[in-house]
Amino acid sequence: MRFGNRVAVAAAAGALVIAVGLGSGAIRTEAAMGAKDVIETRQKAMKELGGHMKAINGFVEKGEGDAAMVAEHATAIAQTSMKIPELFPEGTSLADSHGVKTAAKPEIWSDRPGFEKAAMSLGTEAEELAEAAKGGDKQAIAAAFGELGKNGCGGCHSNFRQKQD
Ligand code: HEC
Repeated sequence: MRFGNRVAVAAAAGALVIAVGLGSGAIRTEAAMGAKDVIETRQKAMKELGGHMKAINGFVEKGEGDAAMVAEHATAIAQTSMKIPELFPEGTSLADSHGVKTAAKPEIWSDRPGFEKAAMSLGTEAEELAEAAKGGDKQAIAAAFGELGKNGCGGCHSNFRQKQD
């Protein structure tokens, strides 16, 4: 983009900000849209974690698939765990007035170190399951899977996710 064009774009963007700033209603709408995107994105990420857990559970409970498949899902969980903190930006708790339904408790922000630790612990548990899966011992896999659910997912949900009805 040439410099002249860039200035024109910046000017247009500036005009937009002013237009949005004219009515406080418009500002609220914009903030709500931001929160909506953020919350939908992280709920989708959480559902994907649920999908990985379901696939692993299929192996543990019913012998579906194989240990290599378990390792893949566990590794995917470990990778997602690193992104969890950034999926929870400030202003998107259930106590904030964005009008979007969320189960994110304010403790996520008031105890940020605790929340980040819970995300890291999910990563550790998932890596341990991936290791167990690579070893191929079904009992070790089942044990690591139990720990992952209890400490990894449950360890965070118990403190930071609003109880479901
Ligand atoms: C570090 C914290 C943390 C960890 C670890 C975590 N979750 Fe969550 N999870 C949350 C929070 C907070 C919410 C509520 C999100 C919201 O409603 O905005 C949530 C919501 C969910 C939801 C509901 C999504 C929806 O559609 O509303 C599912 C399903 C879920 N988590 C599954 C899992 C599974 C499975 C794991 C483990 C593999 C896991 N979570 C690990 C914090 C965590």
